[in-house]
Amino acid sequence: MVFENSRTFAFSMDEADELYPFKREFYFPQHNGNDAIYFCGNSLGLQPKNTEAAFKTELDSWKNMAIEGYFGGTNPWLYYHDYVAPSLATLVGAAAHEITVMNALTVNLHLLMLSFYKPSGGRYKILMEAGAFPSDQYAVETQVKHYGFSPADAVIEVAPRAGEKLIKEEDILQAIEENRDTLAMVIMGGINYYTGQLFDIAAITAAAHTVGAIAGWDLAHVTGNVPLQLHNHGVDFAVWCSYKYLNAGPGAVGGVFIHEKHAADTDTARLAGWWGNDEKTRFKMEKGFFAKPTAAGWNISTSQVFNTVALKASLELFGRAGIGRLRDKSVMLTAYLEYLLYQLPNIGFEIITPKDPAKRGAQLCLYFNNHGREIHQKMLDNGIIVDYREPGVIRVAPAPLYCSFTDVYRFYEILKDNF
Ligand SMILES: Cc1ncc(COP(=O)(O)O)c(C=O)c1O
Repeated sequence: MVFENSRTFAFSMDEADELYPFKREFYFPQHNGNDAIYFCGNSLGLQPKNTEAAFKTELDSWKNMAIEGYFGGTNPWLYYHDYVAPSLATLVGAAAHEITVMNALTVNLHLLMLSFYKPSGGRYKILMEAGAFPSDQYAVETQVKHYGFSPADAVIEVAPRAGEKLIKEEDILQAIEENRDTLAMVIMGGINYYTGQLFDIAAITAAAHTVGAIAGWDLAHVTGNVPLQLHNHGVDFAVWCSYKYLNAGPGAVGGVFIHEKHAADTDTARLAGWWGNDEKTRFKMEKGFFAKPTAAGWNISTSQVFNTVALKASLELFGRAGIGRLRDKSVMLTAYLEYLLYQLPNIGFEIITPKDPAKRGAQLCLYFNNHGREIHQKMLDNGIIVDYREPGVIRVAPAPLYCSFTDVYRFYEILKDNF
């Protein structure tokens, strides 16, 4: 595709975009009476207009049926976590029984590490990317400490080479190989939150397995952004949040994938609660935990209905749009953003996200040597909602479900005219 630097071109791209009408299914924050340019779906997705009615349905069940809402009403709450599993399974390339929702991302990371991080003998190290999201770093740090190891010894971080901002995948594979006798687990962010680098989940998972390590992924920035094949790639487990590209609102329930090779084995270790117990015996209130042979066997507490409502509603939009079509649009939209950014007079940034569309999702990261925070504030003042991460990065993420080529062009014009 040959891009053009013109409003007419952006408009023609929107006209040809069969996903364009989805934009009208979202609420946008307002700036001077107009929709703000919202390129922050990598932090918090916009509210779909069907959310309110979805909440109302459950509020009505609660109002009119109270406890009976667990067994009757539009969506009996007893099974609420199951309702979202098939759609999430489509997004991440899994079977529905390999998916559940519960808690939030970091809590789930801890819970799944308790299942799959089994230091024994000389095999106790965890490999991750340097500069992983801090919550993941804290989880890994405190897990290894919990087993009596020192993070300095037990946590291997693969960093970009001197003077570079991105991690070379060959360095990850080499580090796995070099630690083949001591590595217990590889935990990576599928897309690094700071650089936008998308890692090769298949290759890194396979490399971990070759040396006998478990492969777990934090897919906070991937789910709903880039299609995945978690089952076919043999990923052991993955966790994600639902408030970014999945548009399920602040504090929404976290998503979990556990490969059936582990989930079907009810002896796989876990910290259990009654919601993961076989439904046939759950309400007998007897001693002895009998795990469901599915990812839902990791659920501990009662379904978090009001943390899942908005996710259920939002996934209806994903079902209609299709993750394949969304990704196709996203590749074009992000490439158009990149093209226009390179047309700007130099306002002092470098795009640090990989150039190769196969190595990134919807997000481009602009690294400012100086004044990044001030420029971010100026963008906000001009009706552009993006976020800033220390040191020096403004993250710009045109989510394809509700962002248009015209939005990208307006973003460019504002930068061109005001910066
Ligand atoms: C990559 C990544 N991991 C983990 C988290 C933390 O998620 P939670 O607060 O839901 O535990 C975030 C939050 O933005 C994130 O971006």
